[in-house]
Amino acid sequence: MPQDTPQREILVTAALPYANGPLHIGHMLEYVQCDVWVRFQRLIGNTCTWVWADDAHGTPIMLRAEHEGISPLELTERIKQEHERDIEGFLLSPDNFHTTHSDENRELAEMVYRRNRDAGLIVKRTIAQLYDAEKNMFLPDRYVKGICPNCNTPDQYGDNCEKCSATYDATELKEPYSVMSGSKPVLRDSEQYFFALSKYTDWLSNWTTSGTLQPEIANKIREWLDAGLQDWDISRNAPYWGFEIPDAPGKYFYVWLDAPIGYIASHKNLMDQRGENFMDAWQQDSTVELYHFIGKDIANFHTLFWPAMLDGADLRKPNGVFCHGFLMVDDAKMSKSRGTFVSCETYLKHLDPEYLRYYFAAKLNSGVADFNLQLDDFVLRVNADLVGKVVNIASRCAGFITKQFDGKLANTLPDDAAQTYQDMLNSWGDIQNHYEGREYGKAMREIMLLAEKANSYIADAEPWVRIKDENSRDEVQQICTAGINFYRMIVTFLAPVLPNLADKTETFLNAELNLASLDNPLLDHSIEKYKPMMTRIEEKSIQQMIDDSKEDISNFSKSAVTSGPLADEPVKDEIEYGDFDKVDFRVARIVEAKQVEGADKLLQLTLDIGGETRNVFAGIKSAYNPDDLEGRLTVMVANLKPRKMRFGMSEGMVLAAGPGGSDLFILNPDEGAEPGMRVK
Ligand code: 2FM
Ligand code: ZN
Repeated sequence: MPQDTPQREILVTAALPYANGPLHIGHMLEYVQCDVWVRFQRLIGNTCTWVWADDAHGTPIMLRAEHEGISPLELTERIKQEHERDIEGFLLSPDNFHTTHSDENRELAEMVYRRNRDAGLIVKRTIAQLYDAEKNMFLPDRYVKGICPNCNTPDQYGDNCEKCSATYDATELKEPYSVMSGSKPVLRDSEQYFFALSKYTDWLSNWTTSGTLQPEIANKIREWLDAGLQDWDISRNAPYWGFEIPDAPGKYFYVWLDAPIGYIASHKNLMDQRGENFMDAWQQDSTVELYHFIGKDIANFHTLFWPAMLDGADLRKPNGVFCHGFLMVDDAKMSKSRGTFVSCETYLKHLDPEYLRYYFAAKLNSGVADFNLQLDDFVLRVNADLVGKVVNIASRCAGFITKQFDGKLANTLPDDAAQTYQDMLNSWGDIQNHYEGREYGKAMREIMLLAEKANSYIADAEPWVRIKDENSRDEVQQICTAGINFYRMIVTFLAPVLPNLADKTETFLNAELNLASLDNPLLDHSIEKYKPMMTRIEEKSIQQMIDDSKEDISNFSKSAVTSGPLADEPVKDEIEYGDFDKVDFRVARIVEAKQVEGADKLLQLTLDIGGETRNVFAGIKSAYNPDDLEGRLTVMVANLKPRKMRFGMSEGMVLAAGPGGSDLFILNPDEGAEPGMRVK
């Protein structure tokens, strides 16, 4: 295939995952999108280098480490290994996976800071910040919680709301409290370092409309620019897990300052290993192209702060920032309780990574709309396309070649097949453009049309009928050779998406897959015995993956970033008001409490709920002496279906809180409440 464009040198990045928890299939949407593009560029002969890393700084990591009782460094080193395992598991092909907590990144973050400072772009300002007077510390965003100032959801962190996604300053939270002590924070003056983003308004107006961004993102950025850019606070007070600012002891770079610099640091680390120069690629006049793959939620960091800071440091800017939408599963946000919040590890226990890579590719385009992983459609699509159409071509033809022709392909194709082969090859131009433009869905559709064509050819040629006629042996060999060559071409076109299938096909064909060699079909060539290349997805594997994911919940750190009961037992998924309203809570007086013979954990309670008594077995023996309970008020669920237990019928449930053992507390309404009152 003629190479009509000069070779390009391209640097690619995907967003750096936080090193505080496992990767999940939502991450994979981006990484697969990026990997397909990178592999495609390499396939067409460009030099494409993917530099990547873990994002290893910031308060969530600090809190997670504290929660686990280990140092942030220990935590990030462990998580990095887990991330590397999943990267390999999903067949991603970065050239380097580094960490932002590295010498290179410290050096480069300091350099970018100094250059901006020397250019007059760093300003010091004293601002009022939240301070925990009991713990004597300034509170970083995530050490403060309170009510979202935008949607009034309680228990939101000081930087953004998990419910409505609003971002705000911690001082804007309503009813704030310190995660450290639970006390109400006070405002105290603190000197901070700001990047003078406001000076970049005109420059960014130009840069963001110069074709670097997708139209939807450029429009969104326009809104921010019109609203006026605020200077950006790039410092945080100690204690903070990150790099100390060189000329400001006790002040640290905010994680979002050094995170994108991690792209450069990973590149430096790679080039140092190769003994090559990395800096040329980052100079203003570099001819190396630079592209960032990111989620639309972090577009502002990559299209405002990042280019401005690069420019302030006299470094080159990206040629493109490619944003994608969020992953939905069965039309809804990934949900822990529904089991659709699937970690990479759990996915890989049950399913082949190429299934998901293909499904993502088959539905991805260059826009920013959310992506819906419809599980039924996933099974149907993968089985129909990959197993039913693609792999089927090889399995229908290979047996004849192996059994009848000693594994040898014919030395020519039938005339009509030779023409079909050429037509198919000509479609690469369009497919290539779709890959380049990240319109993978269109590319996959074109390729599947080729697979349908190949299958029709074989179906019409009926080698299984012709083989019965001794005089048609040559024809059969040629027909099957055509089929194998169609398969070879289709798998070569799919190689950016399905690298394992491409590898297995190389082994099967005894030939390397590349675009140039497709100019000539494989003829008069020995192939190996066919082994199944890909099997169908079983419905039950999906169900097992979902069931496993329900059990995985505690692994995800986002809702368990602090210590304390909320962290240990994250808030369950939302319920409808109607569901809550079904539960009838009543004030109850414990009229009698006694030990239950043979039971380790239970006490038998007789509860008066105002004119009616209930017999309830409650698992509170470890915390209470029956004598101390008699006469007290508590709260019970009065409409719970009676449950037969070994010791008798239990007619309701008493509400208690705590992890267990002696730390168990029954709810205790004030005297004045009367048995039978509804608790609302
Ligand atoms: O949003 C995130 O997950 C960040 N860790 C992405 C950082 S990308 C880059 F700037 F480092
Ligand atoms: Zn909110």
